[in-house]
Amino acid sequence: MPIFFVKKAEMYKAIDHQDVARFIEMIGGSNVFIDKEYLREYGSDQTEDLVFPPHVVLKPESTSHVQDILKHCYESNICVTPIGARTGLSGGALSVYGGVGLSLERLNKILKIDTDNLQVVVEPGVITQVLQEEVEKQGLYYPPDPSSRGSCFIGGNLAENAGGPHAVKYGVTKDFVLNMEVVLANGEVINTGANTLKNSTGYNLTQLMVGSEGTLGVITKATLKLIPKPATNVLMLVPFRSAEKACEAVSAIFREGITPSALEFMERDAIDWTLQYVQDVQLPIDQEIQAHLLIEVDGNHMDSILADCEVIHEVVSRFDAGEVLFADDQQKKDQLWKLRRKVGEAVKSNSVYKEEDTVVPRFKLPELLKEVKRIGASYGFQSVCYGHAGDGNLHVNIIKGELTDTVWQEKLPLAIREIFVATKNMGGTLSGEHGIGLVQKEYMDIVFTPFELELMKGIKATFDPKGILNPGKIIPDNQGFMP
Ligand code: LAC
Ligand code: ZN
Repeated sequence: MPIFFVKKAEMYKAIDHQDVARFIEMIGGSNVFIDKEYLREYGSDQTEDLVFPPHVVLKPESTSHVQDILKHCYESNICVTPIGARTGLSGGALSVYGGVGLSLERLNKILKIDTDNLQVVVEPGVITQVLQEEVEKQGLYYPPDPSSRGSCFIGGNLAENAGGPHAVKYGVTKDFVLNMEVVLANGEVINTGANTLKNSTGYNLTQLMVGSEGTLGVITKATLKLIPKPATNVLMLVPFRSAEKACEAVSAIFREGITPSALEFMERDAIDWTLQYVQDVQLPIDQEIQAHLLIEVDGNHMDSILADCEVIHEVVSRFDAGEVLFADDQQKKDQLWKLRRKVGEAVKSNSVYKEEDTVVPRFKLPELLKEVKRIGASYGFQSVCYGHAGDGNLHVNIIKGELTDTVWQEKLPLAIREIFVATKNMGGTLSGEHGIGLVQKEYMDIVFTPFELELMKGIKATFDPKGILNPGKIIPDNQGFMP
């Protein structure tokens, strides 16, 4: 088997004029881009300030376009990085070895909303929120809702197995995908499953493809599951005097038999920084408050929702909560959600930072927070934490602030490694919903043995023997060997 995973840029064929001419023949000159500024733009996503431009950006419009491009690249040994809306947080869409940046933005149609079977067939370039709003017109609901849902693509959500606040009750992207059409590295098209709710037919290629970050194939179509839209919801913001106590309250709520439709955690800094960033949301917060939980309960009957809210109220009061704020109209709800969804952007605008997407079994959340703070303090790092508490999924943002570049570059990987080791020891893992991509791959040895990593490399080699698809992602470069 080839040693694809340690391939470097020079091991791929550089794109020349003849390749560009071929691409123009395939998809038309107006969909082939070589302008330097343009390439730069397509060489970045939302992962820190990283920029890895491709050598050409291609915008196919159909599955057969994608096939033609991949066949040519496969035969010529040109690497290809699938690109969605570039909202990713682990560098999955960065063209680290140049080559083709394959933008799926023109495959942007909702092909069919099947109201009989509660399914939708979409192309990968559909914006998540657009899909949600379209199915909502039919009284249906597609719950996965990453904070970037206003701009991210379904294709990227599938590639990274994206989550979001409503995953706690409804599940993440993988729980809503039934079947996909995928173009493999050599241009072959496969269907991964069937458009059925149940499927016990052979290996589960659908779930293998979900979250594979464009390293195994290019998703060109997906059949997604929908559910009836719950009629209504209540949203409350609960302040706590102790961040750890806020985290402790989380599992206690579930133990009372309640599954909120969202249960989000925000540290004091997260909310303060976001209030400054968004400006149009006003929220007076008492000085002693250290963290908030944003809790949503949805359903079809207000009386049962309110009964659940009463139980939640009783639970949080056991954890020294302050006065609960109920968002009683849509505008208030929108404001609170805006505050939550903008935390990531607010942190990014504030300082150079490094974001981790740690996830632990829910009950371990308070311990994870404590460990993050302890490890941070031992290295002199400030961190801002927020995330999907109900899923035990904590976004840990380590802040550079006034630290020197040397301290940042030398100590940061050590601190992150310690945080990940602690996470693993609590039964957790590296990423809950952002993926491994480029920036977390060197930590994979913490959670997988060399043998387990070899299995992954074997899977990669089966799907993409020449290693042309999204090289430099997921699999650590310095681990194991390939015979
Ligand atoms: C969020 C993104 C960063 O939860 O995952 O806001
Ligand atoms: Zn998140």
